Amino acid sequence: MKHIMNNNKPNDEFLRMLPKPELHLHLIGAIRRSTLEDLMRKYSVNFPAKPGGFIQKLKLDKYKNLDEAFRFEKFEDFLRLYILCMHVIREPEDMERLTGEVLEDLRNCGVVYVEISINLPPDRHFNMDSLDILNAINKAGKRVGEKLGIEYRIIIDLVRDYGPEKSMEILNSMAEMGDQNIVAVDIGGSEHRFPPGPYREVYKRARELGFRTRAHAGEAAGPESVWGAIRELKVDRIGHGVRSIEDPELIRYLVRKQIPLEVCPTSNIRTGVYSSIEEHPLRKLFDAGVKITLNSDDPGLFGSNVLGEYRLLMDRFGFSKDEIVKVVKNGFESAFIPHDRKEYYLSRLELVM
Ligand code: ADE
Ligand code: ZN
Repeated sequence: MKHIMNNNKPNDEFLRMLPKPELHLHLIGAIRRSTLEDLMRKYSVNFPAKPGGFIQKLKLDKYKNLDEAFRFEKFEDFLRLYILCMHVIREPEDMERLTGEVLEDLRNCGVVYVEISINLPPDRHFNMDSLDILNAINKAGKRVGEKLGIEYRIIIDLVRDYGPEKSMEILNSMAEMGDQNIVAVDIGGSEHRFPPGPYREVYKRARELGFRTRAHAGEAAGPESVWGAIRELKVDRIGHGVRSIEDPELIRYLVRKQIPLEVCPTSNIRTGVYSSIEEHPLRKLFDAGVKITLNSDDPGLFGSNVLGEYRLLMDRFGFSKDEIVKVVKNGFESAFIPHDRKEYYLSRLELVM
């Protein structure tokens, strides 16, 4: 008995070796701190804020330096820092660099498959239009992905703050871009200010165009937002969804339908959804039978990485090896890839067991 129990106890080496999926990662939010600093220098965007400058316009001028801005405590301040990062990714070469580095960092955590989220600008973004952005990601993605052995797909975040009309425009423009490795659409941004209902037609159109769907829900807003994503948007997966725990009927529904939740525990602590890991409902969701997957969201801005999220499963949520493997399997099963690719990844998992 002791032997079996020991065998089922994970360690760091086990976590590192596991071939892992990452389904919820914002490319911009995965930027290395050193790269952000380089790009801020390149474009002369500096703290302390200059009167009338971008940092002041963004309301980040209450911070004296970047270190302070990284200590955000509110969701809104986190989103402001995210926008600052976007503001210094201006050229295709910046986007290529970012993509290559992010894939490298993921591979170093043992990630073999990633769905990268990126928002396309409603208008031109400095020296890039939407196609330039996608070309840059795909150029670096193919080169670095093949070299390191990491497969990627792209999810387009239609950003609730743009409003449904702009989102529909962006979506329609995606239909004309040819094959860009895009598998799905999402709505991130200010969930607490923009409920899902008005995006109903956008999601219907996305399905008509052959895209899979997910929505950020149950992060900055409660269970009603998750119900809205399910009933109005008919999503395949929920980004976060952790606040579903507040509604037992919703939990029963998620379990019965096996709708995947993309859980990102460090993110939830850093953006103030929960004040400590002890309060985080991950374990309760898993024990209730919800199909949870584990992800890092914006690791560059949270000072985290996906391997660290698995360490939380091991050290703080008390997961056994079998339970961790179940979470990894949930991820591959929920990926927006064909059945045979899922089988391939699930079989790779068998090899390390
Ligand atoms: N965009 C980037 N990260 C996000 C998050 N955690 N929630 C909503 N929108 C986001
Ligand atoms: Zn997110």
